[in-house]
Amino acid sequence: MIIEPRMRGFICLTAHPKGCEQNVKNQIDYVKSKGKINGAKRVLVIGASTGFGLASRISSAFGCDAATIGVFFEKPASEGKTASPGWYNSAAFENEANKAGLYAKSINGDAFSKEVKQQAIDLIKNDLGQVDLVIYSLASPVRMHPDTGVLHRSTLKPIGTTFTNKTVDFHTGNVTQVSIEPANQEDIDNTVVVMGGEDWSMWMNDLKDASLLAPGATTIAYSYIGPSVTEAVYRKGTIGRAKDHLEATAFTITDDLKELGGKAYVSVNKALVTQASSAIPVIPLYISLLYKIMKAQGIHEGCIEQIQRLYSERLYTGKEVSTDENGRIRIDDWEMRKDVQEQVSNLWDKATTESLVEIGDLAGYKQDFLNLFGFGFNGVDYLADTNEMVNVSSIK
Ligand code: NAD
Ligand code: NA
Repeated sequence: MIIEPRMRGFICLTAHPKGCEQNVKNQIDYVKSKGKINGAKRVLVIGASTGFGLASRISSAFGCDAATIGVFFEKPASEGKTASPGWYNSAAFENEANKAGLYAKSINGDAFSKEVKQQAIDLIKNDLGQVDLVIYSLASPVRMHPDTGVLHRSTLKPIGTTFTNKTVDFHTGNVTQVSIEPANQEDIDNTVVVMGGEDWSMWMNDLKDASLLAPGATTIAYSYIGPSVTEAVYRKGTIGRAKDHLEATAFTITDDLKELGGKAYVSVNKALVTQASSAIPVIPLYISLLYKIMKAQGIHEGCIEQIQRLYSERLYTGKEVSTDENGRIRIDDWEMRKDVQEQVSNLWDKATTESLVEIGDLAGYKQDFLNLFGFGFNGVDYLADTNEMVNVSSIK
């Protein structure tokens, strides 16, 4: 069939298999162009199908020659209905990995569940023996707690007072005021259950108990800080509480891994267009201004550039990993540069529906958003009849 983007609010209902494949190939080419990295060889990536997790899997495989196991929650295609982009991305990744002689298998299911953890344990035991690196890159609005069966929902709300600021509908370019009522305690608790560190530590405990962590094993989860304009709704809001919890969990996991000589890190990454971030109010306006400034300065990065730099300039330099005063790796350093933030802040005050076309990079935002679903890539014939059914035997 001919596959076109079908937008519904913050998501696109369709995905293009050839475009997703092109996206993965472009990321592989980028990593290869930067040369080999002396990194971990057996890697488990939880949240491996899109965004930072996919970039991590690609960086490990094609930068470090690693065997990778990916865990994700995606929808395969059915006759006449496309798969979710992460499914096509993973299929493309596995094909490329196989061609390159790299081990790659995936588990498609709920990473929060006991069943999927057990499947991963069995697969590691049978195929890899142990893992040296565990990337934790889940972004989910819900989590079914494995012990209670309760379905928790995360929210994106300020804490304490109503938050009012500008936002943009990136489809139309309309800049409007948005007001978000403050969270109650239940919202905060639920968001911490979904996006905090509990599930990360469950994974690490299970892997350790099954003796699947190699000596010196490392684990990394991703966090975000961002500017003052988004602080009330992000870092000091419900999601920020979850990130505080995630960051604190790195220390308890590190304690648990002491006897193995292992370590848990949080890496603070740059704001980027992903399925997760486009649903957060205010962030798309900030990103469109940030992109404009960072592109003008030649310091713009996407997920793959971020993770390639995380590996080559932070984790695997042969020297001690440098962290901030809170023990976090900072790869958001260019985003948070004083001159960049000052310029964004100036533009923020000026941003209106009329001015954004000039002062913001809405076109870049839209392009990245389409790219998430495999649309808008050079070298893909979008008018061609395309088979939505893609089969890959290594995705279970
Ligand atoms: P994303 O939406 O692109 O990726 C989420 C991944 O989680 C996908 O692979 C998806 O399949 C998987 N997933 C979701 N629910 C799952 C479940 N129940 N079981 C198994 N897999 C599941 O998101 P992203 O933006 O790459 O976010 C990854 C991490 O990076 C998050 O912790 C996020 O907060 C952090 N981060 C994002 C940004 C940003 O601007 N996008 C910046 C800094 C940090
Ligand atoms: Na991810």
